[in-house]
Order: sequence, then structure tokens, then C-alpha cells
Amino acid sequence: MKIRWTIAAMIGTASSMSGAQPADPDLGRNLAATCANCHGTDGRARDASATLAGYPEKRLLEVIEEFRSGRRKATIMHQLVKGYTPEQMRLIAGYFAAQKN
Ligand code: HEC
Repeated sequence: MKIRWTIAAMIGTASSMSGAQPADPDLGRNLAATCANCHGTDGRARDASATLAGYPEKRLLEVIEEFRSGRRKATIMHQLVKGYTPEQMRLIAGYFAAQKN
């Protein structure tokens, strides 16, 4: 009986601990995965599309802004970038910048 209570208390602590985490540590990677269809797994392009792995974070965010504003001509990216918040884009840019090309 006593053991059961201990286990219940441990489970309670574990779940409240994970609930206290501010953000999902995998969020950047998971968001970046939505670019993989066209830019390759982990941003390593297999064909003609641009490789995003190792793309400098600041530069990527600039390019995204150019797409968003229409300054950079695009067939699809100008529409696509509108689906992400600036914070999500920062996470994505940070993730790709950290990938080896
Ligand atoms: C549906 C396919 C598709 C997806 C998904 C996609 N892209 Fe693109 N991306 C393109 C195409 C095509 C271009 C070339 C510009 C154009 O025609 O829109 C491009 C160009 C770019 C460029 C410019 C590269 C350069 O140096 O010229 C960047 C940066 C970029 N994409 C980032 C992203 C990011 C970040 C994501 C995920 C949020 C993403 N893309 C998702 C198709 C895609």
C-alpha cells in the first residue's frame, strides 16, 4: 500500500515538472520539418531547391521578410511564409543555421 502511494506521488511530480517547461525544446526542429518537403530533410536539398542547412540565421530571416513583403519574386514562398509567426520563423532559422551543410 505504501509503495503504491510513493509511485503515485512520483508520477504526479513527473507530470507537473514537464508541465512547467516553458516551451517544447523540439519545436524548432518540428517547425523546420515543414520545410523539408521542398528543401530536403534537415534542409539538405537533394535537387535544385535551395539548401537551408547552414543558412545563416540572420540572412534567412531577411529573405523571409523579402518574401513576405513581395520584394523578392517567388512562386510559392511569398504565400508560404505567411503561415508562420515571426517567433516560429526565428525558431526555424535557428534550427537550420545549426545544421551542417
Ligand atoms: C512547397 C515547397 C516549399 C516549401 C514547403 C518551402 N519552400 Fe522555401 N522555397 C521553395 C521554392 C520553390 C523557392 C524558390 C522561390 C519561389 O519560387 O518561391 C524557395 C526558396 C526559399 C528560400 C530562398 C533560398 C535562396 O537562397 O534563394 C528560402 C530561405 C526558403 N525557401 C526558406 C523556406 C523555409 C524556412 C521553409 C519552411 C518554413 C520553406 N522554405 C518551405 C519551395 C518551398
